[in-house]
Amino acid sequence: MTTATTGAAPRTDAVGTAHTRVEGRDKVTGAARYAGEIPFAGLAHGWLVLSTVARGRIASVGTGPVLDMPGVITVLHHGNAPRLETDYVGMLGVPPDPTAAVFQNDRVPHAGWPVALVVAETPEQAREAAEALVVTYEPEPHDTALSGARPDAYPVDGHMPALTEKGDLEAGLAGSVHVVDEEYTTPEEHHGMMEPHAATALWDEGRLEVVDSNQGATWVADELARMFSLDHSAVRVRSDHVGGGFGSKGVRAHQVSAVMAATALRRPVRVVLTRRQMFTLTGHRSPTVQRVRLGADDGGRLRALDHRSVSRTSTVWEFVEPSAGVARVMYDADAHRTENRVVRLDVPSPTWMRAPGEAPGSFAIEAALDELAEKCGLDPVELRLRNEPERGPVSGLPFGGRNLAACFREGARRFGWAGRDPRPGVRRDGRWLLGTGTAAASFPAGAMPSTAAVTAEPDGTFTVRISAADIGTGARTALTLVAADALRVPVERVRVRIGDSDYGPAMIAGGSMGTRSWAWAVTAAAGELRERLVPGGTVPPEGVTVRSDTTAAVGALAQRERHSFGAQFAEVAVDVATGEVRVRRMLGVFAAGRIVNPLTARGQLVGGMAWGISMALHEEAVRDPASGGLYGADLAGYHVATHADVPAIEADWVDDPDPDDPVGIKGIGEIGIVGAAAAVANAVWHATGVRHRNLPIRPDRVL
Ligand code: MOS
Repeated sequence: MTTATTGAAPRTDAVGTAHTRVEGRDKVTGAARYAGEIPFAGLAHGWLVLSTVARGRIASVGTGPVLDMPGVITVLHHGNAPRLETDYVGMLGVPPDPTAAVFQNDRVPHAGWPVALVVAETPEQAREAAEALVVTYEPEPHDTALSGARPDAYPVDGHMPALTEKGDLEAGLAGSVHVVDEEYTTPEEHHGMMEPHAATALWDEGRLEVVDSNQGATWVADELARMFSLDHSAVRVRSDHVGGGFGSKGVRAHQVSAVMAATALRRPVRVVLTRRQMFTLTGHRSPTVQRVRLGADDGGRLRALDHRSVSRTSTVWEFVEPSAGVARVMYDADAHRTENRVVRLDVPSPTWMRAPGEAPGSFAIEAALDELAEKCGLDPVELRLRNEPERGPVSGLPFGGRNLAACFREGARRFGWAGRDPRPGVRRDGRWLLGTGTAAASFPAGAMPSTAAVTAEPDGTFTVRISAADIGTGARTALTLVAADALRVPVERVRVRIGDSDYGPAMIAGGSMGTRSWAWAVTAAAGELRERLVPGGTVPPEGVTVRSDTTAAVGALAQRERHSFGAQFAEVAVDVATGEVRVRRMLGVFAAGRIVNPLTARGQLVGGMAWGISMALHEEAVRDPASGGLYGADLAGYHVATHADVPAIEADWVDDPDPDDPVGIKGIGEIGIVGAAAAVANAVWHATGVRHRNLPIRPDRVL
């Protein structure tokens, strides 16, 4: 038994110092195992069968011949699956998506709806049998076409009010010197994270265990307990390493069907989704049709702002892509109106996808601002600086730090914006036309209650346990740095355990609130533990553990308009012969709270910006109106930016600690993508003189 040295130990400065991932070696050597590759004795494999019609009823499921195939153990479908509890609102405030609550009835509400699970001894046998399973349908006419003119679009609140309105919009527009009135569209987009969704379910001494890949183990455990009417203590979900999430890794058909099969068979069952299945079973970003009307006075000051967005949801789950929300924080005007509407169609349910609302919304509003700058004869940076609001435009609340102007000034300086010729289409490099563009970014900075436990071990190390998720963000490393500072010990003496619902309730890796919410709980527990330990004192064999729960502290947060902000800059080259757009360089400067780990933070922000390039130029899921399904539902048909598409991207930040957060964090999970597509689109206009209001800016649209 050695001693714990905390108490009066001197301050450390792990937070703010670059640190490689604590699990980095495990990841690059393959020692880190992902949900679909962890071995279990007696493991059976489930393969989902998805509907081939976009609407109708299941007439028959031909299980007989399939059950005679080699290795096949069972086939689950609506005729034999257990009934689930689905009449609840989960911890994120939404009911379960029926696409996840599988096999409950014979209705088919969209193409790719799960209709059966074939379970076999090997994945190959399960796949073979799943492909042989004959399911017949009574199809019905379907409708998957979104447009801005649909009369059946209706306002939906989601996590924010559908409508905000102040002042007389028409009068404001009529009284404006300069007016922009345009429609912008963004296509259906998919998360496409590297690691497919995968889960293994098993019963172990009366407890259900699910080894999974998700954005919140407690969240998934909570949903599964409710659906299967189990005591919460009887469900344990683990999710150690996660190869990307982006909003899509919650409760899905694979976990639910795996639990059904494991319960029926009393043996471990694994269900892994294929890349193609992910395109219908795991959510996506709805296409949007957005109309933006801006009116400004002679000096470019906004007099009227109107942002209306129509998105699409399924007939079985109501989800709104709240694209009009971004203007509620970014820009003020005497007449100000924003509204989010939704159309219900025969398509899979959309869901949160990185910067839900802000990503497509910032494309429309920031492209419209660029058009307004052109009309006003003002530099686009200057136009934005002239429209910096004093308080939240809709909330009226003071900002909890709004360092957007600092981001623009620093970004413009580093990008070399000064002296930019505002005229479009006048710079050439051989067959390339060159242009630069800018856009603003913002994303809400919040915190949610979490619990954590920190243990002083007898060997002088410390173990942090929290049901956090590291979906590739570096959260595990960030929490290690936060804990080390709170304990005032070197980073090497801290180990952080995450991804286990047995560690108690915690925020998910989502909403840019994960690391901040968890860091708060870790700081609280570690700080109390440090005070409790006597320097030079002994620690008993079982260690000394302090637990925290930030529910009260987070609930007492001051009411502010609390956001991260950023300024995006892009330079593009447009090939006048082929219509190809190449991004040559990009810079983002962010005001996003205290940065915990500069190394992974830079990666997070650059990754978001690369995704912005992808959104601007490549990504587009095309739905076939005849079948109701997607053309090319894989990473061959759905183009994402690859290394060759991504130039040197720089991301940096200005000093911007959140005054109300114990660590000063705001959150950097999603802001990197916000405004990035608009900056690229605005640069394409500057290069060519042509506005592209429909994403992606494909070569055929450029020509
Ligand atoms: Mo993020 S779209 O909240 O996972």
